[in-house]
Amino acid sequence: MDDVVRRAPLFTALDDEAAAALRATMVQVQIAKGQVLFNEGDAGDRLYVVVEGKIKLGIKSGDGRENLLGILGPGEMFGELSLFDPLPRTATATALTDTVLLGLGNRDLDTWLIGRPEVAKQLLRALAQRLRRTWEAVGDLVFSDVPGRVAKALSELAAKFGTKGPDGIHVAHDLTQEELAQLVGASRETVNKALADFASRGWVRLEARAVVILDEERLSKRSR
Ligand code: CMP
Repeated sequence: MDDVVRRAPLFTALDDEAAAALRATMVQVQIAKGQVLFNEGDAGDRLYVVVEGKIKLGIKSGDGRENLLGILGPGEMFGELSLFDPLPRTATATALTDTVLLGLGNRDLDTWLIGRPEVAKQLLRALAQRLRRTWEAVGDLVFSDVPGRVAKALSELAAKFGTKGPDGIHVAHDLTQEELAQLVGASRETVNKALADFASRGWVRLEARAVVILDEERLSKRSR
């Protein structure tokens, strides 16, 4: 089985045999770049694990403004909230690149949760981690300035998607400037200004839908 999938919270508590059995109940879904997997408000009947590619989770305000809750990559799970608490989807999931997912239906998940308390425990752990990160993001919105939040977003994207290159960490985030601004929760102009400032200090180099982090330490200090 794919190593990435094996590391997803659903699988970590299982031995190889059980993991293979769970994998066999999951359905592979492929979506193309830009395609919407589900919309905020839809009824939810399954959760997903990212195998390959990137998914953005976004919400819209009444007046049409968008905010991104997160960018998920291989091994990450989403879509579980409407299973545990049967209410509509809390966010819209859209593919940022061509993406491969594994979906697990509500009923199949129930069987695993009842038969394998350790799977339930890992899912609770993943939920607790998400809750912690959500509160941290709320704190950042209140206490950090926009450059601080941009620095943090870049550091987090680097931790998830970065690869070490000769001059720094290459982060192919696949986000437009608008999307990066939506992730940070600020206007495009303010976010661009912060990015240009980081670039002029030699902390980052900006590329189309990517950034190279040249001075990880300074960037990380700015995010605190
Ligand atoms: P669900 O509500 O079924 O569909 C949207 C999914 O987005 C949701 O499940 C979670 O998996 C995920 N999600 C919702 N809110 C957040 C958040 N604040 N941070 C990260 N992921 C989230």
